[in-house]
Amino acid sequence: MAVNIIIGSQWGDEGKGKIIDNFSDKSDFVVRFNGGNNAGHTIINNYGKFAMHLVPSGVFNKKAKAIIGNGVVLDLEVLVSEIDNLQKQGIRLKGRLFISPRCHVIMPYHKLLDRLYEEAKGKGKTGTTGKGIGPVYADKVSYNGIRLADFFDKQVFSVKLETQLLIKNKILKALGEKPLNQKEIEKKYLSLFKKIKPFIVEAYPILKKAIGSKKNVLIEGAHGVFLDNDWGTYPFVTASTVLSGGVTGGSGIPPKKIDNIVGVAKAYTTRVGAGPFPTELFDKTGDKLTEQGNEYGTTTGRKRRCGWFDAELIRFAAEINGFTQIAITKLDILDNFPLIKICTHYTLNGKKVSYEAGDAEFLRKVKPVYKTLPGWMKQTKGAKKYNDLPANAKKYLKELEIQIGVKIKYISTGENRNEIINL
Ligand code: GDP
Ligand code: IMO
Ligand code: MG
Repeated sequence: MAVNIIIGSQWGDEGKGKIIDNFSDKSDFVVRFNGGNNAGHTIINNYGKFAMHLVPSGVFNKKAKAIIGNGVVLDLEVLVSEIDNLQKQGIRLKGRLFISPRCHVIMPYHKLLDRLYEEAKGKGKTGTTGKGIGPVYADKVSYNGIRLADFFDKQVFSVKLETQLLIKNKILKALGEKPLNQKEIEKKYLSLFKKIKPFIVEAYPILKKAIGSKKNVLIEGAHGVFLDNDWGTYPFVTASTVLSGGVTGGSGIPPKKIDNIVGVAKAYTTRVGAGPFPTELFDKTGDKLTEQGNEYGTTTGRKRRCGWFDAELIRFAAEINGFTQIAITKLDILDNFPLIKICTHYTLNGKKVSYEAGDAEFLRKVKPVYKTLPGWMKQTKGAKKYNDLPANAKKYLKELEIQIGVKIKYISTGENRNEIINL
């Protein structure tokens, strides 16, 4: 019996969905606590292939209850279509999906502002997913947000929307956009709200009871540590808290109740959007990682930037999250690389420096120092036992474990559910 958290330990897309799917069978509750539909978690199971954006990925365990915690921001159109799609595939959600009324709602002006801010920043843009994430969280922390709870009383919603449009239409006008119409938004959003209303329930007492009665709770982190708003490569980050410590704020689970924190890391590194990436490869090896790893975004379809495994980053991720276990994914993608590199640390002007010493500009300047290992040039794809791995793959994993300083508990060797080694 345990409360488990799954956290991405790079720049997102580590394969969290796949690891969550493996945990979900043993889970009574599956919970999202951060982010919005900027997340895209791939699940491949008996029902098919799914890119989950808002509903917790563990929902495919029909016995589990799924909770969208208060820290999640909701695009109601995306949520309604995700719920509809799941129900069409035979995933019953009535009575087992609970959405916190505290969730903030992404309004049309948030999506518009996301695009306009990016355009205004020009070359310095963040490369956001364009889903309105930065602007909705900005409204949340500046007391301008609209929460699901506000929709229950049409009058309350209408007044809040009117105030926001008064402000937002001025900004939109200044940025050369047409003003938004209150009536149109009200009509559309109230109708979307009606569809999700049966699922809106305060989740706190449900989780409190679950933890009190020693149920298995699986908390699904979105994004990755280096996209965290505070500890990531600011300003090339996302707007929410990504770390395990954010679980309390985003779902109401007390820190002392957490038993196990699993850091998920790809066997190499990828990043979508702008920002520093010390081990990025700009050569044929980088292209090979992109193509063999099929590194194209789950949410936006953008090509992911690729590079070698960066142990300096994962060490920091392990420390700040308190990882108790590591899951390495996509080992199979390295199956035909004759030489494989691991960045062990960084230097700047010849001196050893650490990630924690700086910001995005600092990270642009550091030089990664590599340890080169021989590849295995054999198939690991689909391996289910550690002893089935080639000797050089074992050596690579051992070296990762030494560098990170946390035990590797899971090794994913393919995109399918059963292609995994549990140590
Ligand atoms: P997430 O956002 O962390 O859940 O990751 P994404 O779903 O955005 O991207 C990970 C991609 O890698 C998906 O297409 C997965 O199906 C795929 N994947 C996950 N684990 C493995 C693995 O071990 N091997 C291979 N080949 N693909 C994997
Ligand atoms: P999952 O959960 C990869 C990145 C965007 C951009 C930056 C800010 O699937 O791992 P935002 O739209 O959040 O304001 O964009 O953050 N980003 C992700 N990259 N995977 C994700 O989620 C991401 N969520 C945000 O590409 O660089
Ligand atoms: Mg993803």
